Amino acid sequence: MLGGNYLRVRDSCLTAIFLADLQPSKRLPRLLDLERGSGIRHPDYLTHLPLTASFFTGEGSPISSGIKRFVTEQMSPIRPVPTSGSVNSWANKNVGLVAMSYIYSCEAEGYQTCPMEGYDSIRIKELLNIPERYEVAMAVATGKGEGGGGTERYDFGEVFFNGTFGEEIDV
Ligand SMILES: Cc1cc2nc3c(=O)[nH]c(=O)nc-3n(C[C@H](O)[C@H](O)[C@H](O)COP(=O)(O)O)c2cc1C
Repeated sequence: MLGGNYLRVRDSCLTAIFLADLQPSKRLPRLLDLERGSGIRHPDYLTHLPLTASFFTGEGSPISSGIKRFVTEQMSPIRPVPTSGSVNSWANKNVGLVAMSYIYSCEAEGYQTCPMEGYDSIRIKELLNIPERYEVAMAVATGKGEGGGGTERYDFGEVFFNGTFGEEIDV
C-alpha cells in the first residue's frame, strides 16, 4: 500500500480487495448454469446469451473491438444500436457496483470504510496469488471509525439534471 494507506490497512479490521475480471467469458459456463437453474429465462435468451455477453463485455482482441466499434458508429445514425466499450471499462463498472454495495452494507452494520486506489497492484496480485486475468480495481479498508464530522457533498443540482445534461432539476 502506498503512503498513508499502509496505516489504514494496518489499523482496520480487514481490507477487502475487489477484482475486475478482464476475461469474463471464462465465467460463461457457470453463468449459463445459474441462468438455466433459475428456470425463469426464455430459451431464446439462453441461446443468445454467449453472443450478447461477448458484445457487451467488450472482450476480445483489439481488432475485433475495433471492428465492433466501427460497425456501431456507422449504424448509429441509421438506427439505434447498443454500444460496446472496452472489457476494462465493463469490468470496472461492475466492480464499482459491488464495492458500493459492500460499503453500504458495512455502514448498515456499523462499520466504516475507506476505498483506496493507492496501491501497487503488481505486488498485491503476487502476494495474494491472484490470477493474471484479474485487475485489482479497489481496496476497501474496513473497521470501526473514530467518528468526526462528515465531509461536504456536491449540491443535488450539480450532479443531477432534468432531461438533458446541465438542465436544472426542480425537486
Ligand atoms: C476510487 C477512489 C479511490 C480512492 N483512493 C484513496 C486512497 O488511495 N487513499 C485514501 O486515503 N483515500 C482514497 N480515496 C478517498 C477516500 O476513500 C475518501 O475518504 C472517501 O472516498 C471520502 O468519503 P467521505 O467523504 O464519505 O469521507 C479514494 C476514493 C475513491 C472513490
